[in-house]
Amino acid sequence: MALSDFLAELDALAREATTAMEAASDDESLEAVRVEFLGAKSGRFKHVQKGLGKVDKADKPAAGKRLNEVKNHLAAALESAQAQLANRPAETGDSSGFDPTLPGLRPRLGHLHPITQTIAELTDIMGRLGFTVTEGPEVEDLWHNFEALNIPLEHPARDPLDNFYLATAAADGSPKWLMRSQTSTVQIRVMEKTKPPVRIISLGRVYRPDTADATHYPMFHQIEGLLVDRHVTMADLKSILRLFATSFFEDDVHIRFRPSFFPFTEPSVEVDMSWEGRWIEMGGAGMVDPNVLRAVGYDPEEVTGLAFGLGIERICARRHGVSDIREFYKNDVRFLHQF
Ligand code: DAH
Repeated sequence: MALSDFLAELDALAREATTAMEAASDDESLEAVRVEFLGAKSGRFKHVQKGLGKVDKADKPAAGKRLNEVKNHLAAALESAQAQLANRPAETGDSSGFDPTLPGLRPRLGHLHPITQTIAELTDIMGRLGFTVTEGPEVEDLWHNFEALNIPLEHPARDPLDNFYLATAAADGSPKWLMRSQTSTVQIRVMEKTKPPVRIISLGRVYRPDTADATHYPMFHQIEGLLVDRHVTMADLKSILRLFATSFFEDDVHIRFRPSFFPFTEPSVEVDMSWEGRWIEMGGAGMVDPNVLRAVGYDPEEVTGLAFGLGIERICARRHGVSDIREFYKNDVRFLHQF
């Protein structure tokens, strides 16, 4: 046999054996590969080895050398295949093995607080009715929180037990600042700077030293609305509030006015809304008192105004069937996650 034929046969066997060893997926199949190629009695390597006798005499040393090289190579390949199988985690039960085919764990996404969501929705609805958003400070002076709103010095609404006055006092010892007790302050701030017509809303926090219960909290949110123009009437007030409530509750909501009193409106009303067969108190409203218009330099003979102030927690609680507004401020994610 020519040397080249012998070497070709040997190399082909070496390649086939190496590939089979690498492909073996467990100990049993690797053992089968070993027996097939390297088996002592009838392995294929043995078979090729027998061919050495037929190689021309002069070529025998070269053929024998190559035969040994291939034998060593296959022994090493077998060893490394065995080692690889030993290091691999078993098919079942090894939790340390990383399985890239498993679906990932989805991170839990946060979202806006229900009150923030309600504020965004109210802003959107009132925006469509032509009202723009204005903001005012939460630390307020007495002029904007009381005086300009027609709440004189001796008025009970100024009682220190009903307000969070700040410790900073005027020269005579009287308080100068307080945490605003109502968003009506923003009405004054806007009118002082703007000529009529005015059509604004303001949404934000207000503070009162109330004991927390199912319907009260020492800090809560109000939406304040103000529209000043020629010929503004109570009919406009009622239509706006009805449109507003109908959009928010996505239902045919009715509005009921009950006679009331606020120093800054005349006449004044309490606003109730009827939804799903129940009347809910939403806040106060009325026609801006001529004294307030005068305090900001408007002429009550020229223009009239409507105003309203509604509690946002109540609106939100009613809409979602929450019976205790304290839930909004416990920061319990199991509660908040539902919105
Ligand atoms: N500021 C009032 C309150 O906090 C609510 C209110 C009543 C606002 C009548 C108004 C209004 O704008 O016209 O109780």
